[in-house]
Amino acid sequence: MTNTGNTPPIWFITGASSGIGRELAVQALAAGEAVVAVARRTEALGELGEHERLLVVEADVRNEAAVAKAVEQGVARFGRIDIVANLAGYGLFGAVEEAADGQARAIFDTNVFGVLNVLRATLPVLRGQRSGRILQGSSYYGQTADPGVGLLAATKYAVEGLSDALAAEVAPLGIHVTLVEPGLTATPFLSNLDTATAIHADYDQTVRVLQQAIQALPTTAFSGVDRVAAGIRTAVADDNPPRRLALGIAGADSMRTALAARLAELDKWATVTNLVDAELSAHNG
Ligand SMILES: NC(=O)c1ccc[n+]([C@@H]2O[C@H](COP(=O)([O-])OP(=O)(O)OC[C@H]3O[C@@H](n4cnc5c(N)ncnc54)[C@H](OP(=O)(O)O)[C@@H]3O)[C@@H](O)[C@H]2O)c1
Repeated sequence: MTNTGNTPPIWFITGASSGIGRELAVQALAAGEAVVAVARRTEALGELGEHERLLVVEADVRNEAAVAKAVEQGVARFGRIDIVANLAGYGLFGAVEEAADGQARAIFDTNVFGVLNVLRATLPVLRGQRSGRILQGSSYYGQTADPGVGLLAATKYAVEGLSDALAAEVAPLGIHVTLVEPGLTATPFLSNLDTATAIHADYDQTVRVLQQAIQALPTTAFSGVDRVAAGIRTAVADDNPPRRLALGIAGADSMRTALAARLAELDKWATVTNLVDAELSAHNG
């Protein structure tokens, strides 16, 4: 797939103890591939069973030294890393104004600075190989946002921006970057959410309404985690992996609506946009 020979790929997966990361580990092992599974709660990985192709490493992605050690151990065991799945992360629900400073900083520590720790530790390996694939855990909230998810979306937008730049930086080195953008997926994500204290009734009509709507969603509103992982596997195995991979119809529709509105607004305000350079174009003309 991504390595030079025909040997099965070696995965380095964060967030491997639960949800999408865990399912990716399960599917990779079932396909005869090797996995470095990284999580804080490594006991949850015991259920994956004993595999000579599985290395479980305990690391908090916020701890740069621990992440570097996990990469070192992975390379010592398997000799290389072909696919980095940067999936550790969690959500924060609450109005932008209501999220406490500590909550806002904490979610960036895991969802953004944790991702950066993994990139800094794995990129030297991938660059050395002149090959590799990086899966960045984003969301449909990496391209749009609803009331109550401002801080979560802020971390995903940050990951999207840095990944666009990174993709261009590492493309000449044989490394592909794919932003994984799931819609609502049936994982423990919602039960692992941090929640801001509701302070202002002014946000009942937006934030609380959306929170109640999410809590009332039927299970059918969530994509199956097995299919989400299977979709990720299809994309990462492609010769030309996508920059962005939407997973699930509802999330993709939300992104489509947001992108169309953004383009329409760019066009609607084009006169004002272009007037800024009117003198320049008159001069050049
Ligand atoms: N489920 C959805 O609806 C959905 C939708 C869009 C995007 N996503 C994204 O998909 C990714 C995976 O989410 P999920 O749905 O699989 O959620 P999940 O089941 O809650 O899994 C999250 C994983 O992140 C790990 N994690 C959290 N903080 C960590 C830290 N500081 N250090 C190391 N590991 C940490 C957790 O492991 P430990 O607690 O053991 O460390 C867990 O394995 C996230 O980036 C999420 O934003 C999910």
